[in-house]
Amino acid sequence: MHAFEFKDGQLHCEEVPLRRIAEEVGTPVYVYSRRTLREHYRRLDEAFSSLPHIICYSVKANSNLAVLATLAGEGAGADIVSGGELYRALKAGIKPEKVVYAGIGKTREEMAYALGAGILMFNVESELELEALDGVAGELGMKASVALRVNPDVDAETHPYIATGLREAKFGIGMEDAVEAYRRAASLKNLEVTGVHQHIGSQITQVEPFRESLSRVGELVERLQSMGMGIRYINIGGGFGIPYRGEEVPYPRDYAQALEPILRGSGCTVILEIGRMIVGNAGVLLARALYRKRTGEKRFLVVDAAMNDLIRPSLYGSFHDILPVEERERPVEKVDVVGPVCESGDFLARDRELPAFEPGDLLAVMSAGAYSFAMSSNYNSRRRAAEVLVDGGRFEVVRQRESYDDLVRGERIMG
Ligand code: LLP
Repeated sequence: MHAFEFKDGQLHCEEVPLRRIAEEVGTPVYVYSRRTLREHYRRLDEAFSSLPHIICYSVKANSNLAVLATLAGEGAGADIVSGGELYRALKAGIKPEKVVYAGIGKTREEMAYALGAGILMFNVESELELEALDGVAGELGMKASVALRVNPDVDAETHPYIATGLREAKFGIGMEDAVEAYRRAASLKNLEVTGVHQHIGSQITQVEPFRESLSRVGELVERLQSMGMGIRYINIGGGFGIPYRGEEVPYPRDYAQALEPILRGSGCTVILEIGRMIVGNAGVLLARALYRKRTGEKRFLVVDAAMNDLIRPSLYGSFHDILPVEERERPVEKVDVVGPVCESGDFLARDRELPAFEPGDLLAVMSAGAYSFAMSSNYNSRRRAAEVLVDGGRFEVVRQRESYDDLVRGERIMG
């Protein structure tokens, strides 16, 4: 069963009518389905059950504590990219020994924090970072477990901003330099080389790029193992795509089936860093229509959510379906759905055939569980939206709407 469905003409999240949430909490508000989070996690876990594996949920997709705690309850680890994400993961009850730390710009302070917390491993992206980590671990009298992120040079055929596996990307170490970098890592006495990491991009809707890149990674693993390096983990990254407009995308089991032959032979534990596939379709952004207007030929629907709440359409031209919260007979019209922010790029949908919404109507911006609230900002001094988690017939506000005081917290007027 889908998390968001119409019952008696009302769009629900699980058993809760979205209208009720809008009335009690106000709009704009993000609403997440706990059941869906769990289902997506379990589906992924089952798909890879024939291989030793750890699912490290990619915290950047949605870092709300209640979301993290729900996944922690399922046994999830975390893929983090900052000290802040580590703080959140630990606070939500994710076990440090299931945390992997990626990113090209870890500071020494962040490295020390993660070492002290006892995370599983660092995904290191450059030789200088190897040296820095070795230094920090030495100062603490610890050994840091590392994987190197290699760049397999495959085209994931996704939006250029979220493709990361091409040779020219800022991420990872080129395949041609990998063996040398591993030699260097193995020579540093405060590091223990334990894994190989790749991440080729996000919202990838085919299995093939994964198969291609993993077969290259598999060859590298064999070579490193034959050199006597103790590679025990292959981290395949994240990137499993989701349907945004009902399109066909591979299921977790399709990925698992295709990748199993490559992974099994390695004898390694597989790490998955999945974000979007778990949370993307577990959330919606609820907004209310404010005004209708026309300029020249164009029709606009002005709503109370804006690019500061959901930047994906403005930044990537992403498509998010928009549904009425209350089903009613309405004529269809072509509109731009826009927010109050003072930018022409502030839109949630462009030239979209939609039921003609009237001021006061509620609408649900779908597939807004991943990279949505997480990328929101205070631009135009707009308070960030509330977040709600639904569980069956009940719901809780898991992040309050910001107040005006929140907006100026930490600021002061110079004397
Ligand atoms: N691992 C690493 C190293 C990553 O950089 C990412 C995402 C993931 C895992 C998780 O990828 P996922 O399973 O969620 O595809 N803001 C963009 C997406 C940026 C993805 C960044 N890295 C968007 O809204 O589409």
